[in-house]
Amino acid sequence: MSSLLIRNIKTLYQAETTRRKVVKGADMADLPGIDDAFLLLENDRIAAFGPMDKCPSRADQVIDASGRLALPSWCDSHTHIVFAASREEEFVDRIRGLSYEEIARRGGGILNSARKLQQASEDELFEGAFKRLLEVIGFGTGAIEIKSGYGLSVESEIKMLRVIRRLKSVSPIPIKATFLGAHAIPVEYAQRREEYISLVIHKMLPQVAEENLAEYCDVFCDRGFYTVQETERILNAAWTYGLKPKIHANELDYSGGVQVGVACHAISVDHLEYTGDAEIEALKSSQTLPTLLPSCAFFLGIPYAPARKMIDAGLPVVLASDYNPGSTPSGKMPFVVSLACIKMKMLPEEAISAATLNGARAMELEDDYGSIAVGKKANLFLTRPVPSLGYLPYAFGSDWIETVILNGKTWTK
Ligand code: NIG
Ligand code: FE
Repeated sequence: MSSLLIRNIKTLYQAETTRRKVVKGADMADLPGIDDAFLLLENDRIAAFGPMDKCPSRADQVIDASGRLALPSWCDSHTHIVFAASREEEFVDRIRGLSYEEIARRGGGILNSARKLQQASEDELFEGAFKRLLEVIGFGTGAIEIKSGYGLSVESEIKMLRVIRRLKSVSPIPIKATFLGAHAIPVEYAQRREEYISLVIHKMLPQVAEENLAEYCDVFCDRGFYTVQETERILNAAWTYGLKPKIHANELDYSGGVQVGVACHAISVDHLEYTGDAEIEALKSSQTLPTLLPSCAFFLGIPYAPARKMIDAGLPVVLASDYNPGSTPSGKMPFVVSLACIKMKMLPEEAISAATLNGARAMELEDDYGSIAVGKKANLFLTRPVPSLGYLPYAFGSDWIETVILNGKTWTK
């Protein structure tokens, strides 16, 4: 047995004596904290925590966290970190006036990434993705979801998912895999989209299930991509293979994606930049989580999702990075939390709830991650000395994470 004791923590946040699976609405602002706290880790789990006057006297290793805050690691429930190349030329095209959708219609965007990925070897893809994984761990991420979706052929979708499986085998943090064969319609199928959808349903899904390569199935249900009817067919087929839906919806328009996600019992519907009363009503009577990706809205210059309205309606908002080469070339969760506060008017406590416990729930990892609770995995970070919690989203761009702890041990790259 090895033990690590963290003493004199200025405030230990998201410390639960009663475990919650998810936090909704007004409860999102309730971020349980203990001032002047200790935290004891044994092996890879949280063994005890409380005020310093109850602090155990010894442990194998001791850290003095005076002036520092302790938080559970971010749970980033939406990323696309397996890709072959960056796309800064499209970024420049957008500066010159083209829109994300115009670039996609010209064969850029997702199709550009697919062409490059199809040519890349599994080893090359693994190397690039592993670097990104280590990068985001340094930003405090302690659990992550990764999607396929830049393969767009049976062979290349499977290649991507095998890369994710290989990442799982070496990663210090848990990874959930999502099959996103229906991310775009490949150019060669432009005039026969039905054939591609049939390939997704009858060739890709069975093989993904056969090799046990994914936990979830995603579809980009939006204007210019997949329709509501197509999405429903793919998600229903996915369920027959035990893959739960977790979809891209309403990034470009009121696409009906939220409603179809709810109808198909999706774990989460993600993006939601175009969300009105009907979408909020649909979400209210469901278990489906609304996942917001403010770094994408920031980078593409599209509207931010109405987080305030969602929280005021009692919904359990989730925040994730969407790290990908096209719409969000950043996996920095502290920046996501800052944007949520600055642009979507979420309180710091709400944003942190959304990026920790609710993010864990969006990957069905809430029993082991997402909060500081006895028995949970010891994935957390310590800040450098800071004045208060609000300072974290306020000091956007500053690197205020000082120590990352994973599986009960301090982590260094
Ligand atoms: O979540 N919107 C769809 N998919 C990704 C971006 C894909 C890309 O442009 O490469 C997203 O934004
Ligand atoms: Fe995405």
